[in-house]
Amino acid sequence: MHANPLLLGGDFFKIINMKFEIENLKESKALIDFIFKKIPKERIFLFIGDLGSGKTTYIKLLAKRLKIKEVLQSPTFILWQKYEFFLKGKKYYLNHLDLYRIKKAKEILKLDLKKEIKDKKNIFLIEWGEKIENYLKRKKINFVKVMIKIISFKKRIVEIK
Ligand SMILES: Nc1ncnc2c1ncn2[C@@H]1O[C@H](COP(=O)(O)OP(=O)(O)O)[C@@H](O)[C@H]1O
Ligand SMILES: [Mg+2]
Repeated sequence: MHANPLLLGGDFFKIINMKFEIENLKESKALIDFIFKKIPKERIFLFIGDLGSGKTTYIKLLAKRLKIKEVLQSPTFILWQKYEFFLKGKKYYLNHLDLYRIKKAKEILKLDLKKEIKDKKNIFLIEWGEKIENYLKRKKINFVKVMIKIISFKKRIVEIK
């Protein structure tokens, strides 16, 4: 496992740029820890990668790290699921969205996302997150991209931007 900080965020530009080479699923701990530590300062994480790249898998591991007891569903059919969790005694909600079936940004807005995003208690982990990237940019809403590349059956390269 290699975790290379390519460029670490200065306060001014707030650039995050990390690259994780994960030889097999067992090596995903550093990635999960890295994302975990960004919560709740960062609240929106877009998981971007092909089918089977590991978006749901990493989100499940994060939920476990957040001590969410319920088993996360693979929500390809259930678009939006909400789970309560606590960090330093404060209550938050993990919102797991899967936009696989969504075609237009318009459909996403129908989901009442606007209101929910403003709520500081909400953390969003969004599969197929590239589908709302432009919307978030237009609204000047901060987000973190988790980009997953399949290298082989077990190997992934994950870049955080
Ligand atoms: N290094 C790895 N990282 C993530 N998933 C892996 C890795 N190696 C094998 N896998 C497997 O790949 C599959 C990823 O599936 P899933 O998380 O459902 O993908 P997605 O949600 O991106 O479609 C799982 O079966 C998982 O066990
Ligand atoms: Mg999935």
